[in-house]
Amino acid sequence: KRLILIGPPGSGKGTQSPIIKDEYCLCHLATGDMLRAAVAAKTPLGIKAKETMEKGELVSDDLVVGIIDEAMKKPSCQKGFILDGFPRTVAQAEKLDEMLQKQGTKIDKVLYFAIDDSILEERITGRWIHASSGRTYHTKFAPPKVHGIDDVTGEPLMQRKDDTAEVLKSRLQAFHKQTEPVIDYYSKKGVVAKLPAEKPPKEVTVEVQKVLSS
Ligand code: AP5
Ligand code: ZN
Repeated sequence: KRLILIGPPGSGKGTQSPIIKDEYCLCHLATGDMLRAAVAAKTPLGIKAKETMEKGELVSDDLVVGIIDEAMKKPSCQKGFILDGFPRTVAQAEKLDEMLQKQGTKIDKVLYFAIDDSILEERITGRWIHASSGRTYHTKFAPPKVHGIDDVTGEPLMQRKDDTAEVLKSRLQAFHKQTEPVIDYYSKKGVVAKLPAEKPPKEVTVEVQKVLSS
């Protein structure tokens, strides 16, 4: 399967991805995770992206298209993939279509995590992540066994620099202005499935499974 997960910050893309990935043996390509790794490693790419990400704005199309183009060549992605956080502009979607056309494939489904903006601040400000694996927790909705510690590795958790109420405002603005048109773009192709993302995580998983088995 070739899937796109699209939705505002905090809508649950990163929470559902590992579950879908394991169930269907897909590779998980999250541009946000890849960019954060580049920032942490201070690569030329990371140095370019850092400031833009901390402001909650989108980095340039060329930069993320380059990352995805490279990542999709991995052998583990040949059977199928989950794109999490990409494409987020119509230009990125057009570039992706071109790339897939060259391989004679196309997107099977776009899972749209639909949710009201008002719920997202609590989700974003309560999030803790395990940076190297991308595992996500929430102080209230999905707490780790020990506060501030990853369940699997015992390593410390951290908060993302852009997970403040203030930066969330810019991220939401970017979503409505630049990413919502991508949903229309794929709706016209008839591949969008709208999910009730305000439900608890397990119920969202059931909805995802319904869509993917139909
Ligand atoms: P990115 O990392 O993609 O961030 P985002 O889109 O803002 O999405 P989030 O990761 O915040 O949300 P999520 O939907 O994954 O939520 P999660 O499941 O973790 O991008 C970051 C930045 O990178 C961008 O601002 C931009 O600068 C740059 N960038 C990335 N891709 C780009 C692109 N293609 N083009 C240009 N720039 C790009 O859940 C959130 C919290 O809620 C967690 O704590 C979780 O435990 C909890 N939670 C999840 N589901 C539920 C539920 N159902 N009920 C209750 N709590 C829940
Ligand atoms: Zn995410």
